[in-house]
Parts: sequence; C-alpha cells; structure tokens
Amino acid sequence: MLAKTSLDALGKSSRLDISHMGFIGGLIRNEKLTQTQSAQIINCISEKNTSGLRCLCEENGLSNEFSNNITALATLHGTYKEVADELSGLSVNDETNAALRELENLDSVLEKLGVGSGISIDFSIVNDISYYNGIMFQGYIEGVPSKVLSGGRYDDLIRKFGKHSGAIGFAIYIDLLEEQVQSRKNDMEDSGIINIALPKGRLGEKAYEIFEKAGFECSEIKEESRKLVFENRSKGIRYFWVKPSDVSIYVERGVADIGVVGKDILLEDVKDVYELLDLGIGVCKICVAAEKGKKLGGSGKAIKVATKFPNIALNHYANQGVEIDVIKLNGSIELAPLLGLSDVIVDIVETGKTLYANNMEPTEDIAEISARLISNKASYKFNQTKIDDLCSKIQRGEAK
Ligand code: PRP
Repeated sequence: MLAKTSLDALGKSSRLDISHMGFIGGLIRNEKLTQTQSAQIINCISEKNTSGLRCLCEENGLSNEFSNNITALATLHGTYKEVADELSGLSVNDETNAALRELENLDSVLEKLGVGSGISIDFSIVNDISYYNGIMFQGYIEGVPSKVLSGGRYDDLIRKFGKHSGAIGFAIYIDLLEEQVQSRKNDMEDSGIINIALPKGRLGEKAYEIFEKAGFECSEIKEESRKLVFENRSKGIRYFWVKPSDVSIYVERGVADIGVVGKDILLEDVKDVYELLDLGIGVCKICVAAEKGKKLGGSGKAIKVATKFPNIALNHYANQGVEIDVIKLNGSIELAPLLGLSDVIVDIVETGKTLYANNMEPTEDIAEISARLISNKASYKFNQTKIDDLCSKIQRGEAK
C-alpha cells in the first residue's frame, strides 16, 4: 500500500506490477533444474522472451508441461482477478499454491484499502531467486523510461543477520523522477505514437518490410534520402534508422518504444528490455573458427581470441573453464589468425563463405542468431494493447 500510495503521489498515471518468487521457484524446483538452468529461465522470464524459454526447455530436455507453464507465466499480465484462473491452472505444488494464496490475500487487502487500481500481476518482475523469497513489486510512472520503484520480500537475507522475522522493503529511484518533468513535455507532442528504432542496412530494410506487411507502412521511408526519422501519424508510428549496435540503447533509454536488433548484440551488450518476438530474419550463428586443421592448446598459454564480441567470447570460454586473451577488433576478424594476431576467432557465420575463402573452418557453435523485436519495459506497460496488437499482426504477417 505504501508503494502504491507513493507512486500515486509521484505521477499522474502509475503502475505497480507484482510477482511472487515462490510461484516461479515452485515451478523451477518441481522440475529439479540446476542453478544454471534456473538462472537462464529466470532471465528469459524477465525479458518475456517466450522463444528463448521454449529453446532452453528443448535444449535441456525439460518437460512439455514445464515449457508450457513457464512460457504462459512469462506473458501473463492483468489484475489478480483477471489472471487468477490461469494462474491456478499453472500451479503445480504446495509452494506454488501457497504463493497463489498470498497473492489472493494481497489482492483483497489492497482492494479493501482502496488502492487496488493500477496494480497488476506480472511475473517478468523477477529477480535473484537467492535474495527474494516472496512477493516482488516494481513501480512505473508514465513518461519515465524505467522502473522508479522496486522492492520485495527477503526473509532469508534478514536471517543471515540473525533476525528470525519477515522482511520487506522497497526503494524509490529519486534521480529518475527528474526525467519525468522532461518527458512530460515530450508526451504532449507525442501522445499515441509508437517510436520504432530500426537498424540501418539490409536487416533494417527486411525488418521494415515485416512492419509494412503487418499494416504499419510509412511510404516515405522507401524514398531515396538521408533522412533518419519517418512517421505515419494515421498508423500511430514513427521509425528511426539507427546504427544496428545502438538500437538496444535507444530502446532501453525509452527514446524508442520498440526496436529490431540482432540477438548477437543483445548477447554481447545485455540491456534491461523485453525481447518480445523472434522475427526469423538475419539468421546466422556465432561460432569459434580456426585455420583448417590447426591444433590448439597444450602450450599452457591463454588462447588468443580475436572478436567483435568480447563478452560473448569471455562467457563461452569461462563456461568451459578456459582462460583466454581476448583481442577486440571491429571488423575483418578472419584476418587475425591468418596474420598471427590470434589463435582463433569468435564471429558471425552466415553462409560460411568468408571462412572458406580464408582457409578457415568453424570449430564450435556458440549461439543461434536472428533479429529480435525488443521493447522498453515501461513503454510496454503503458502501451501494452498497441504493442501486443503490433506483435500479433507481425506474427500473422497480416496486411491491414
Ligand atoms: C560478417 C562476419 C563475417 C561475415 C560472415 O562480417 O564478421 O566476416 O559477415 O558471413 P558469411 O558466413 O556469409 O561469409 P561483416 O559483413 O559484418 O563485415 P566485417 O568484417 O566488417 O565485420
């Protein structure tokens, strides 16, 4: 109640989303996931990344029931009363039942206290399972591009300090509220428009075609010009061309509500955004590649890895417990082993022609890549109907 009242005092339109770690934890423990699997699943839930969840379940041989339940949980959204039936259908054990009862009690208490409106259940509000153990909540104010309030129940943490009692708390990010004043001004000129960041180049052109086919055309974008911003007010959309690696920055900061970005960039540079759709374009892989027939290791020295993706390379080798010397390059990565700068490369392989032409071959696959539709989390909460409508039209490829 204190969180909701505080939010209401701060903004004209506010939202408090609630989830319950007991429910997510109950599903995870029921399926007996390892710590790594849990962390990956929780990460996908926090991104509402349903295609990622399905892939993870398939790759790890998890049950269909778990895959369906966890995917439904990631997209579930609405007031407690709206989602209660679906949520109870997803409950699998005492732990999830107890979480469900707590959410139900909370709903009736908040209603009695008269602060129930603007509160939704949303399990993408998820965080470190070893820290929070009960309800979690996050607050948003319209016009501020990220959460302004975050909290939850952390009894286990307080026990580490020798106190055997319940613990719950939240923080309000005061510094973000200043942005609200600025964005309120922008709001007035901009209300109702969805801003879409497209990656400049071939991938962006293909992505635009998908939006056009879904009924969100903007004919001006196809004209020869150096303009970067295009809008079609009657369709309520505005497109920007941005450098591919910058799309997720525009979206995370809320300048763009949604955007199209390669999974490679999302893996390299993790951002706090929702990953709503796999658009199935720009399909390729990130691989380790080396000169044909070259034997690696045994020298006792760290493997030299040239790449545009240092974080992906470091994570990949850290998972194998292998030490590397990462050499960050910006392009023509295949040159590095040929000229003796590195032992291997970690790079995008699409057709494999560049590797082949340079006498190299892939030695390990790291990740499947394709373009993803991402959304700013706060924008999604305040424009969910529009963004969901756009996503479903894209999925159906339907022209209007
Ligand atoms: C990418 C990647 C490879 C090549 C792979 O380079 O870094 O070099 O494409 O494609 P292929 O498997 O179809 O041959 P990009 O074209 O982005 O240029 P860059 O070398 O400047 O990074």
